[in-house]
Amino acid sequence: MNHTLLLFFSYLFTQSLFASGHNHTDHNINKNFGDYVYITTGNDMAQFSLEKHNKINDLELLESGSEISIMRVPAQFVNEAGHIAHESFNRCGGFMLHKSLKDAQVELESGASRSFAKNMVFDDYQINQEKTVTAMISLVNEENIIETIKKLSSYRNRYYQSKTGVKSQNWLFDTWKDLGKSRSDFSVKKWQHADWKQDSIVATLKGKTDDIIVIGGHADSVAGWLGRKIAKAPGADDNASGIATTTEIMRIIIESGYQPEKTLMFMAYAAEEVGLLGSREIAKEFKKTEKNVVGVLQLDMTNFNGSDLDIVLMKDFTNNGQNEFIGKIVDKYLPGVSWGYGRCGYACSDHASWNSQGFPASMPFEARKFEANSRIHTSRDTISRSGNSAEHAQKFAKMGVAFVIELDF
Ligand code: BES
Ligand code: ZN
Repeated sequence: MNHTLLLFFSYLFTQSLFASGHNHTDHNINKNFGDYVYITTGNDMAQFSLEKHNKINDLELLESGSEISIMRVPAQFVNEAGHIAHESFNRCGGFMLHKSLKDAQVELESGASRSFAKNMVFDDYQINQEKTVTAMISLVNEENIIETIKKLSSYRNRYYQSKTGVKSQNWLFDTWKDLGKSRSDFSVKKWQHADWKQDSIVATLKGKTDDIIVIGGHADSVAGWLGRKIAKAPGADDNASGIATTTEIMRIIIESGYQPEKTLMFMAYAAEEVGLLGSREIAKEFKKTEKNVVGVLQLDMTNFNGSDLDIVLMKDFTNNGQNEFIGKIVDKYLPGVSWGYGRCGYACSDHASWNSQGFPASMPFEARKFEANSRIHTSRDTISRSGNSAEHAQKFAKMGVAFVIELDF
């Protein structure tokens, strides 16, 4: 648990002790922080708090950068800030708690949205949808995942500039469309990219609010260096597995008749293998149009069981709070499935595109990086490498369903 989160939760703990009627002075309540604390938060949330929540004039805006501001607030305000963030802002309403002004200033200066995306805290990482989740994860069907992996890897390649890379995305579009055809709150579109032929596919299950949860992975594949347009690149693990996992999560949510609070978006990105191009365009557009993306789950390589850990949460380019939330979900809903943390060491997949735009993202991965499937990016990345099964990927489908439902509510 990182330091900021630790402070935050220890604060909530002391807060709840006192809320239950113990007789302490204000000074004691805030023994961890003093009476006032420093938070960094999005400029818009800072402004909003000053205008709407400053009844006794005790919130103070100290400094503002291009995206985030430092505020000095009463320690009691932190709880309320969680609610304001939740109700009015979501993504932009995340905030970080600092033990000193100096710490807050360090954050403001390093103040990249990247670091903000990594550390901000939301108040909706609660796990309380046991009934719905348990029922839904029992619907995960390994055969469906196998079938999708086989179909996608039957294209010679899914390169972003090849004919078969266009065709495979058209197949996915038709398949996703068909999965949701009975629901009027479901739609699928081809997201066209100006600079290359392969589309990204984006499916939407409309919720009651405009908050957005994104689940997805890259659909393209690649092998070799010369003649990539015609090279054989089945990409069964990298990343037919992630798309198949995403598709199974989507199928269950749709077919169960679940009506989400938040809007769920399922994405199959084009052109990841050539530099995260598809997801970068989409994440940038979402930022530009001020979409409230409250969580992103990136599924890239889910079907090769190479480590003693089943699920490895990549720590870099991801959100600490959301990662912990996923860990807790695995502990609660996937008995016998182990998880831990790892690192890619660089911006290895589409989660980094979202993270760079300031959105909280996670990347649960099939193994530790050095124990991952070594046949990726070759003609031998086939499902036979995973024993022609989707035993490993089905854990990720269950985790994904639970993640969506718990974050949704
Ligand atoms: N799925 C891989 C990333 C990966 C591979 C993560 C092995 C962990 C272990 C992804 O599709 C990929 O190949 N990414 C590129 C970088 C990207 C920016 C082109 C990579 O890792 O070289
Ligand atoms: Zn990949």
